[in-house]
Amino acid sequence: MALALYRKYRPKLLGDLLGQETNVEILKNAARQNRLGHAYLFYGPRGNGKTTAARLIAKLLNCEKRHTDSKFAQLGEPCNECLSCREIDSNSSFDVIEIDAASNRGIDEIRNIKDSIKSAPVGGRYKVYIIDEVHMLTGPAFNALLKTLEEPPSHAVIVLATTEYEKLPATITSRVQRFLFKKQPKTKIMEKLAAIAKAEKIDIEPSALELIAAAGEGSFRDSESLLDQIASFGSKIDLKTAERLTGRTGFKKVEEFAELLLKNDLNASLEYISVINEEGLNLVQFVKDLIHHLRKVLSLKLNPGLEKIFTLELTAEEIIRLKKLAVHGDTAKNIKLLKSLIRAYSEMRYSPFLSVPLEIALIENSEAGK
Ligand SMILES: Nc1ncnc2c1ncn2[C@@H]1O[C@H](COP(=O)(O)OP(=O)(O)O)[C@@H](O)[C@H]1O
Ligand SMILES: [Mg+2]
Ligand SMILES: [Zn+2]
Repeated sequence: MALALYRKYRPKLLGDLLGQETNVEILKNAARQNRLGHAYLFYGPRGNGKTTAARLIAKLLNCEKRHTDSKFAQLGEPCNECLSCREIDSNSSFDVIEIDAASNRGIDEIRNIKDSIKSAPVGGRYKVYIIDEVHMLTGPAFNALLKTLEEPPSHAVIVLATTEYEKLPATITSRVQRFLFKKQPKTKIMEKLAAIAKAEKIDIEPSALELIAAAGEGSFRDSESLLDQIASFGSKIDLKTAERLTGRTGFKKVEEFAELLLKNDLNASLEYISVINEEGLNLVQFVKDLIHHLRKVLSLKLNPGLEKIFTLELTAEEIIRLKKLAVHGDTAKNIKLLKSLIRAYSEMRYSPFLSVPLEIALIENSEAGK
C-alpha cells in the first residue's frame, strides 16, 4: 500500500512547517545553540504540526551529522540522511517513544514511563518521549508525571502535546516550554495541497482544491487525507466531483446563493435549496458556510478595513466578489436575515424536516413574508 499523503508530506525540516514561523525560529535557534529544552508542551488544534515538530526535535537531538559537522549544526535543521534521521522518519527509532495518553491515562502508565526513561538511549544520544493528548491523563497520573517533567534524566526530553490546553493543570504547564501551534487559514492549506497535487501529478481544479482545504477546517492532516481519498477516484478532479465525494458544497454555490438572498429573489433561492438537497449535499453545512459568508459581507459593508483580515480566509478573487455583494440590501435587513439563518441552522440540526427551517427563514425575510 502506498504511504498516505499526509505521512509522505510530513515536513522533514522545521523550515517546512507552514504558518508556525515563531515556533520554528525559536526551535531553530535553540538547536543552533545546542540549547534544546528538556520538556516541551505543544498545543493547538489538530493537524497543525505538533507531532511533526516533536519528531523534528528528536531528529535534531540525535542527528549524527549535526554532531560531527559544526558548520552543519549552525543550520538548526536535521540532515535527514543519517541513520538516526531516517529511522525517525520511518517511525522505527527505538529512541522516540510515542504514547497516546487518551488510551494510557492512569498512574500505572506514567510509572512505566518513569521506569523506562531511566535506561540509556539505544541508538542515538537522546530518548524523546512524546505524550499525545496529554490532557486525558488522570489527576494522580499528572502528579506522578511532575517530578519527571521537572528533572528528566539528562539523556531524555519530554514533549507533551494536546488540543485542549485549558484542561491541563498549572502544575504541568508551568514546568514546560509552551508553544502554540496556530490553526491555519484556508489559503495556507491550499498552498500545501497545491504543492502536493503538483508533486503527485494530481490534476485538480483550483475550486476543487479550495473545497478540500475548506473541508479540512484548519487541519492540514484532514485536508491532505481528503485529497488522498478524492485523488484515488480518477485522473481529473473538478469541483463537481469534489462536491459529490465530500458531500460539501463549494464556495461558488454559497456565493451564488448569498447573492440570490441579498437580491431578494425568493423563488430562485427556494429552488436552489431543493437542487442542493437533491444532489445529496450537506444542507446543514451549507447553511453554516452561508452564515459565515454573509457575516463577512456585512462586516465588509460596515468596515471596509476588515478586508485585510479576510485575505487569510479568502482568495483575492473572492474578496472582489464579496465587495460587490456588500452593496446589496440594507444593513438592518441583512442583520435580520443573518439572525433567522442562525436560528434555522440550530433548528435544522435536530429537525426531521431538514430543509423546512431554512425555507421558513427565507420566506420570513422576503417581501412575501411581510
Ligand atoms: N504546519 C504545517 N505545515 C505543513 N504541513 C503540516 C503542518 N501541520 C501539519 N501538517 C501536515 O499534517 C500532518 C499531520 O500533522 P501533525 O504534526 O501530526 O499534526 P498534529 O498537530 O495533530 O500533531 C503532517 O504529516 C503534515 O502532512
Ligand atoms: Mg499529533
Ligand atoms: Zn541526521
